[in-house]
Amino acid sequence: MRYFIGNWKMFGIPKSINILRKINSFYSKDKNRKKYRVIMTPPYTLIESYAKYFKNKKIFIGSQNCYQKDQFSSNTAGVSPYMLRSVGAKYTLIGHSDNRGEGDSDLMLKNKVRFALKNNLKVVFCIGENKIEKKNNKTLIVLKKQLTKVLERKFNKNNIIVAYEPIWSIGTGKIPTAIELSTTILHIKNVLKNIFKESPAVLYGGSVDGGTVEIFKKIREIDGFLIGGASKSSKKFIDIIKNYYR
Ligand code: 13P
Repeated sequence: MRYFIGNWKMFGIPKSINILRKINSFYSKDKNRKKYRVIMTPPYTLIESYAKYFKNKKIFIGSQNCYQKDQFSSNTAGVSPYMLRSVGAKYTLIGHSDNRGEGDSDLMLKNKVRFALKNNLKVVFCIGENKIEKKNNKTLIVLKKQLTKVLERKFNKNNIIVAYEPIWSIGTGKIPTAIELSTTILHIKNVLKNIFKESPAVLYGGSVDGGTVEIFKKIREIDGFLIGGASKSSKKFIDIIKNYYR
């Protein structure tokens, strides 16, 4: 199974659902549709209405983050996994570099993963090195740390997906070389095998579009993509899927 996950970040109002309706109608007719799954993570404000609309359709709605507690608590503006699940979210991103940059610690991330899984949300756990770490050849060490500090064997690996997003590649048009990327993805899968015995799916994110996917698709170890900018346009998002299977 391959995954095409869109992360809208701080984008979208109710009528932006038209973007998803177009993607859904492409998906419903695509001869390759059994091979992949489409998941979109709009902002919190849109999850309930979008999840309702797509309830009996094939697109899954997820959240971009969740609070590190279970159900209800006195945390102003917090949104818990229980609350997300109750409005129809099926997935949640956790550990996106935007949120790590704003203070998400490994302990917070561990609690987020724990409570998301407890509330039947599938977790897309994001990792990635920054520009300086890459320059200092620290990529593999950093990624291993990010994985081992948060993920535990007792977590159900069937409900976890890992997304490798090098921070220097997000929104920049810069991408790793094919060799760098296959080495890194294999390393991530090895670390995950040590934690879980079997590796969950590992996605790539960072400047994925209809052009760059031609390079990424040659690396068969990549199980799918986490897509930022290009997920805000139905055409660009569909182009990625079309070019991947071409
Ligand atoms: P871009 O696809 O815009 O580089 O963003 C990647 C990302 O951060 C998705 O989570």
